[in-house]
Amino acid sequence: MLQKKIFLVVVAISTVSLLLHQGSHLSWTIEGFYLGCPALRSHPAPGLKPKHTNVAFLKTHKTASTTMQNVLFRFAERNRLMVALPVQACSHQFCYPRPFTTRFVHPHTVPPNIITSHMRFNKTELRHLMPNDTIYITILREPGSMFESLFTYYNKHCESFKRVPNGSLEAFLEDPRRYYQPDEEDSMYAHNTLTFDLGGDKDRSPKDVAYAQTFVAEVERVFSLVMIAEYFDESLVLLRHLLSWDLDDILYVKLNMRTPSSKRSLTPGLPAKIRAWNSLDARLYDHFNASLWRQLSALGLTCVAREVRLLQQAQERLMRSCFGEQLPLLRSATQIKNKDFRPWQPSGEVDIVGYDFPVNISRGFSSQAQELCVKLIIPEVQYTRSLLRSQSLRYRRSYQRQPLHQSHTPQQPIRTVLPRHSQLHHSQSLPAVSGPASGKGSTYTPKSATGNQRQTTKLGTKSSQTQTSFTGK
Ligand SMILES: *[C@@H]1O[C@H](CO)[C@@H](O)[C@H](O)[C@H]1NC(C)=O
Ligand SMILES: *[C@@H]1O[C@H](CO)[C@@H](O)[C@H](O)[C@H]1NC(C)=O
Ligand SMILES: *[C@@H]1O[C@H](CO)[C@@H](O)[C@H](O)[C@H]1NC(C)=O
Ligand SMILES: *[C@@H]1O[C@H](CO)[C@@H](O)[C@H](O)[C@H]1NC(C)=O
Ligand SMILES: *[C@@H]1O[C@H](CO)[C@@H](O)[C@H](O)[C@H]1NC(C)=O
Repeated sequence: MLQKKIFLVVVAISTVSLLLHQGSHLSWTIEGFYLGCPALRSHPAPGLKPKHTNVAFLKTHKTASTTMQNVLFRFAERNRLMVALPVQACSHQFCYPRPFTTRFVHPHTVPPNIITSHMRFNKTELRHLMPNDTIYITILREPGSMFESLFTYYNKHCESFKRVPNGSLEAFLEDPRRYYQPDEEDSMYAHNTLTFDLGGDKDRSPKDVAYAQTFVAEVERVFSLVMIAEYFDESLVLLRHLLSWDLDDILYVKLNMRTPSSKRSLTPGLPAKIRAWNSLDARLYDHFNASLWRQLSALGLTCVAREVRLLQQAQERLMRSCFGEQLPLLRSATQIKNKDFRPWQPSGEVDIVGYDFPVNISRGFSSQAQELCVKLIIPEVQYTRSLLRSQSLRYRRSYQRQPLHQSHTPQQPIRTVLPRHSQLHHSQSLPAVSGPASGKGSTYTPKSATGNQRQTTKLGTKSSQTQTSFTGK
């Protein structure tokens, strides 16, 4: 009897100390364990599969791809990976809409691990640039809402749309051929944009079913994961599993959205017309939406839902630790005072929202914490510029260190995977990141004992807390 008691006490003590030491890492695992899900981890444990670091993400237009790019940029920076960036003459994109060639890549950004800036896809060219174990990923969006978004966003930019009387989407769809000129600059925004971005022939006749089928099969062969914007979080869960990344690696804040007032809802009949006009895109979407849901089912829908919820909770905690109780100030671009945070707008009539930040980043980051928070919300163009600056610096330093006769050899072998122990570096840099609100149970506080304790307490008493809040009402 006494032995049994002692045994129980020992078990209890070791459980508590484990929780204290493992902190939030264990919390993911425990939550996952209850559902029989594949283990969820936010922090490294020995014997885990290394994270895959070589990723080519084809950024498509108006598909939440900017948010995805931000996730990849931050992952690259945290792990000191190389991101291939465009030469200055190409601006922040790889000279889109010209087909991608390696000549568009800034020489200070090779050999790369990651590539994610806008391009028109060309697998042959990318293969010359990227490591041979690169995983290809892209994202699609439902053609109806996507075309509405393109039409509004590029209304003053794309000739095919400018010709339409009253800027009316209905008028355009009534007779697209009347306004659309396939060979004009920017015509890709007006017809099968996804197909074009993926390197396909946007103007192939819809009657050419064989072409459409071959193209879908080709995309399927090249891309290991085709994310779907409507199911962004679910897609991220698949991405995380595919790359063996942690939940912390896929946290994001939505970027490059329009204000609600510059969106319009589609009148009945329009979605069908949009699909008919963009039939290649519609076929791609239907195919890959179906395959996304097949993959999610294979993972287990309950597990996926649970993981999505954990992602959203971690996101909320991160936002609170960055910005306090007051979430970042969502503003339309024109109102954002700090130009470092102002997203690019195609015209004054499209209101893109961004985040205003109470810190003057032109004066430098005052801490790592602020730096992470800033990078969550910094727009694409500014982030690209900042990344190019830091990578160029790194390149010049390694160049200077090399003896002269070696200066033409590549600087270092390409890292194909990320050994888990190097992640210590990552998690150690993060405690500061949660800043003043670190006591709120941020997943970013592995080092701080108090942070862990609080979180553990919170998790350990989860059900009773829920009850308390119910009885409190
Ligand atoms: C893609 O690149 C290859 C050479 O690497 C070239 O032969 C081919 O024409 C390119 N495709 C397009 C659509 O430009
Ligand atoms: C990838 O590249 C490495 C090093 O260049 C080579 O040893 C390996 O055989 C290649 N793998 C494939 C699948 O081509
Ligand atoms: C454009 O708007 C004007 C005024 O609202 C209207 O009279 C005209 O019929 C519209 N044109 C088209 C093609 O919808
Ligand atoms: C995507 O596929 C799922 C599963 O088949 C379906 O329920 C859903 O309606 C599809 N979404 C869209 C936007 O078509
Ligand atoms: C931010 O920096 C700019 C330029 O250095 C300066 O003019 C401005 O007053 C600063 N704003 C704040 C709030 O510190």
